[in-house]
Amino acid sequence: MNRREFIQRSLLMTAALMLPPINLAGDIVTAKDSLKWWQKTLVYQIYPKSFADTTGSGTGDLNGITAHLDYLKSLGIGAIWLTPIYPSPQVDNGYDISDYTAIDPAYGTMADFDKLVAEGKKRNIKIVMDLVYNHSSDKHKWFLESKSSKTNPKADWYIWRDAKPDGSAPTNWRSIFGGSAWQWCEERGQYYLHTFAVEQPDLNWENPEVRRALFDAANFWLDKGVGGFRIDAITYIKKPAEFKDGKPDGNDGMSAIHAATANTNGILDFLHEFKAKVFAGHDIFTVGEANGVAAKDLPKWVGKDGVFDMLFEFSHTLIAVPNEVWCRPADWKLTQLKSALDASQQATKNNGWYPIFFENHDRPRSVNYFMPKNPDKKSAAKALATILLTLRGTPFIFEGEELGCTNVAWDSIDDYNDIQSHAQYDFALNEGFTKAQALDAVHKFSRDNARTPMQWDSTKNAGFTTGQAWLPVNENYRDINAAVEDKDADSVLNWYRKLSKLRAENDVLTAGSYEILLADSEEIFAFARTLGNQKFITAVNFTDKTVTLPAEISRGFKILASTEKNPDAATLKPFEGRVGELRIKN
Ligand code: NOJ
Repeated sequence: MNRREFIQRSLLMTAALMLPPINLAGDIVTAKDSLKWWQKTLVYQIYPKSFADTTGSGTGDLNGITAHLDYLKSLGIGAIWLTPIYPSPQVDNGYDISDYTAIDPAYGTMADFDKLVAEGKKRNIKIVMDLVYNHSSDKHKWFLESKSSKTNPKADWYIWRDAKPDGSAPTNWRSIFGGSAWQWCEERGQYYLHTFAVEQPDLNWENPEVRRALFDAANFWLDKGVGGFRIDAITYIKKPAEFKDGKPDGNDGMSAIHAATANTNGILDFLHEFKAKVFAGHDIFTVGEANGVAAKDLPKWVGKDGVFDMLFEFSHTLIAVPNEVWCRPADWKLTQLKSALDASQQATKNNGWYPIFFENHDRPRSVNYFMPKNPDKKSAAKALATILLTLRGTPFIFEGEELGCTNVAWDSIDDYNDIQSHAQYDFALNEGFTKAQALDAVHKFSRDNARTPMQWDSTKNAGFTTGQAWLPVNENYRDINAAVEDKDADSVLNWYRKLSKLRAENDVLTAGSYEILLADSEEIFAFARTLGNQKFITAVNFTDKTVTLPAEISRGFKILASTEKNPDAATLKPFEGRVGELRIKN
């Protein structure tokens, strides 16, 4: 090599070394600076109806959220996902929308919303909206027009079909909330399709006018300065070309609609259009709710060639209720939970980003679901938080999860508000279960478990409202609440704050790679996060016994945070969760 070639080659090598790390929206990341804001923060999910009531109406409101922004700041939250706050008859608590660009008066006004966005901005907290675009309310003016005749301008904005010759529904599909997925409409003389409740008719995405109207509504909120979107039930928007009966899967002779319509071929075309016309070019994040998208398919959905930044897929939440049939729960093992989460981590390793969650408004409390055998729910909450806040991805915390809130168990099905709880209860009875068994399933899996009012303090109604709360407060509110936990250094809340700080201060917890450890252990949930020469290890004991850690993850281990007061590097105490640094040689 002559001198000139040598210099050229050296220059090339230097240039290669100076290349910026590839961004995670696409590929491998080596430094925190190359992450987007939403990859470095924590998201907090608010169920506005249950968060904080400032008027005494018994229902939470937007001003109640604004009043607690500093509380969220203390947790290190950078974005709030609001479940729907649009006008709605509230059949499914807001997931039945009757106007996509207004605020339900029960929650306040558009001025209150603008104030929330502005106050959030002052604290670096963005507001993320929930887009419910598979269906609207049956009270939406689009549907009222659509159902009025077969020839009106919005006649094909929804999914209409003639009855079978004998007058029965076009197919035997069972809706997700029970009963036929078809509802007869006298006015129009046809059936319409509803994947969820009768009052939630499915929109017809094949119609470009429908797509335009939906995209316009999303752009309306972008103009208001929102920080992103969670997109509801998105796997159902594309229907199959032919509507055929499914194989009956219950005593009612029906077949779950999910099997017939979820993730139909061609769905990604709609979603790419959505991305191009709404999301592209904005400094926001999008997270799709995609029930039924397997971890292995994630690369088609997220990342630079996909549609969304993140996708909620539910494999780890289905371990105890396969097929979401509450009366037929399964026994599960820790290795199942670990491998489901590991699959999602692997799938988003080089493509997209993972939204880590254990709870949301559709789920029972995580301490009951993921640690059913731990009677001490405080240690359960801390152990789970240790995983939630140190896995690779963006943690999503659901209101009250940071306090260690637990399930409720009300005496009668009539005490439950949740439409799905009633559907699951009726389904269980129809399958031959007793009332007590059906109620037991509701106790374990009801969505109302997460929807009870936020526990702020020890005063009446947990400080949620001065009126009559729309849903009863969990009786344990005097022990589990934000005010008490704020002052207790050992509380679940302060454990969340500690881990949040650890995450913010250590790039390895955001930008670092992930690797599962002790994959076959039925006792310990452990993984490593590595960035350059730094290696952090999370280890959580899922048993009520002290377990010994293998030398490779305990020797030279500096404990940075532990749920135990006097942790021992070589062992994990019952239900202990810890994060530490392992010195690795250069
Ligand atoms: C998923 C939402 O999270 C849930 O609460 C709702 O009932 C259904 N989609 C229907 O919108």
